[in-house]
Amino acid sequence: MAIEIKRLAAGIGAEIAGVDLTRRVSDADMEAIKQAWRDHLILLFRGQQLTHEQHIEFSRRFGDLDDHDAIPKFRDPQYHEILPVTNQEIDGRKQPVGRQWHSDLSTTLRPARASLLRCEVIPPVGGDTMFANMYLAYDTLSEKMKEIIDDLWGIHDMTVAKASQGRDLSEVRKRNPPVAQPVVRVHPETGRKALYVSEMTTTGIVGMSDEEARPILEYLFRHSVRPEFTYRHRWQVHDMIAWDNRCAMHLALDDYDINVPRKLYRTTLLGEASGYIVQSNAA
Ligand SMILES: [Fe+2]
Repeated sequence: MAIEIKRLAAGIGAEIAGVDLTRRVSDADMEAIKQAWRDHLILLFRGQQLTHEQHIEFSRRFGDLDDHDAIPKFRDPQYHEILPVTNQEIDGRKQPVGRQWHSDLSTTLRPARASLLRCEVIPPVGGDTMFANMYLAYDTLSEKMKEIIDDLWGIHDMTVAKASQGRDLSEVRKRNPPVAQPVVRVHPETGRKALYVSEMTTTGIVGMSDEEARPILEYLFRHSVRPEFTYRHRWQVHDMIAWDNRCAMHLALDDYDINVPRKLYRTTLLGEASGYIVQSNAA
């Protein structure tokens, strides 16, 4: 069976057909998949009824996996590489996470390189996920704007997400102080520049007052998710989507009834070290 690559949208994404992830994928097919991933940023594999072991096994072909040590309550108790993504209660509360555009773990000094998300239970309607191409977001800025932002550092704070509002996060913040990340990241494999700010986590720009930084960031947030840079995925059970966090953002749409079950499983590829700790937003 030959691998087939079918684009999902003009701006981002491709479906990989003709591959069975329950079996070991040949080295030649892995190379084709890796090249398609570099070209299209997110990959969709349909009809993959995988065990946790098979999901982990396939993910490892791309690199080292996170065992989610930073969030032990949320990972699978037996398979630490598996992170259930669910709206069911964990730790006494529902976890409506990812409802704003973001790139996984941008608030840490080792942002996730990539994530592979497998769908097991979907709501009868809604529960879609959107993706945005951050190379295109950068490429379509004016040369002057590129010059202005090329050397800036954005401040990322995990405690400002909407999902965290109303909780006392002073302890979380002490353990996870805000970090500075480049506003423009160079992808280590493609050498291309990608915008790296997100409405969920980016609160300021190093060396600028909030009044100065806010309008720039708000413009970049709006610009980076223009419809022509995006793909909206309507999940089917046993879909798996792999995305590259270094050049794509994603958003779990809040378009379904939170009381009906939705369950997906994620593996996370460890990324390169990036950024530094900042003490306050006024840095
Ligand atoms: Fe996410």
